[in-house]
Amino acid sequence: MLAGKRILLIIGGGIAAFKALELIRRLREQGATVTPVLTRAGEEFVTPLSAAALAGQKAWRDLFDLTDEAEMGHIELSRAADLVVVAPATADLMAKMAHGLANDLASTLLLATDKRVLVAPAMNVRMWEHPATRRNVETLRGDGVLFAGPDEGEMACGEYGPGRMAEPEAIVEAVVAALRDGPLRGRHVLVTSGPTHEPIDPVRYIANRSSGAQGAALGRALAALGADVTFVTGPASVPPPEGVRVVRVETAREMLEAVRQALPADAAVFAAAVADWRVAAGSGSKIKKETGGAPPEIALAENPDILATVAAMKTGRPALVVGFAAETDEVIANAAAKRLRKGCDWIVANDVSPGTGIMGGRENAVTLITAEGAEEWPRMSKEQVAGRLAARIAEALAGGGA
Ligand code: CTP
Repeated sequence: MLAGKRILLIIGGGIAAFKALELIRRLREQGATVTPVLTRAGEEFVTPLSAAALAGQKAWRDLFDLTDEAEMGHIELSRAADLVVVAPATADLMAKMAHGLANDLASTLLLATDKRVLVAPAMNVRMWEHPATRRNVETLRGDGVLFAGPDEGEMACGEYGPGRMAEPEAIVEAVVAALRDGPLRGRHVLVTSGPTHEPIDPVRYIANRSSGAQGAALGRALAALGADVTFVTGPASVPPPEGVRVVRVETAREMLEAVRQALPADAAVFAAAVADWRVAAGSGSKIKKETGGAPPEIALAENPDILATVAAMKTGRPALVVGFAAETDEVIANAAAKRLRKGCDWIVANDVSPGTGIMGGRENAVTLITAEGAEEWPRMSKEQVAGRLAARIAEALAGGGA
């Protein structure tokens, strides 16, 4: 399953480090080449000699010397891999990763890599549940880091709970999944999702009913086909997908800025329900209901159209720009006109009339409108719509049809 794949395996310090040896064996059994790197703490638990013997090649140590540096720079070491695996990933290593520290070989490799990173955390349950670790896990997920485990169970320290390193077999499965060749491997796809919130004052805002479910399903489907996904999301009620780079924003203007930062991309899908208007002069302090006073009048200003802005880009425009059109009347005619007005290549039109249960619901009934015409898809789950759309995007990018 892993023939020809090169894994850089960082072994952190912890009692679970002994399982990393078994992991090396199993990865090699699947045909992978494993380059082990031991942190200084990792060396307290397994010797570089055992790691090197099982890997069949040199084990790199934190205390690297000038000769090693001359042989192969650490940048090259991390670039030469197809996947970086950290097992066991201690609380300390994860904290370094989350904060971008690079003060030893392992953390430097993790900061220098341009490859996907899979971590298998292992720590005491209280450390796993500490707010600092929770924050770091959240940050790492947002950076697109993949997780295998931890498992729940009896721990070496005698406590019970989540924190045990996943079994080597499960880590190998996660490695296989992370390296599965998909048609979108090597492609960067940008997805916007969720509603935007437009503040009226520090406690009130204008919002809409979008849950972000369709956008999240799409991000997941694109990542499953191997895409490198940047997921720019407003305050959605469903969690973002795993294994994608998450950028959280609140307002339409912040979303536009995040999208600009995320470009270039091979394809961009605009599934967000962006507020068309914002409050022209938002108040910095809470608007008070003064007795007897008239209700405040809220003047609105137009928000930038993110989809139209990207579709009109002269340089760096993604090869395929896909918009969504939420309509209540004349769905196909309105959406086809919207495709031309906004300058996007495809528009996914859906009927959000009350009674369809689509806005905030689990299903979607869409029509895909391209330059070739309109294609009506049967009503299906948002996951199925996402899967089908992701497959079409892959086809279009592969065939140069976009
Ligand atoms: N969109 C966007 N930025 C905006 C408004 C919309 O990127 N400021 C994108 C949405 O993500 C979606 C598409 O444009 O992909 C269509 O949005 P929709 O709200 O349906 O269209 P509107 O421009 O609002 O047109 P109308 O209100 O006339 O239906």
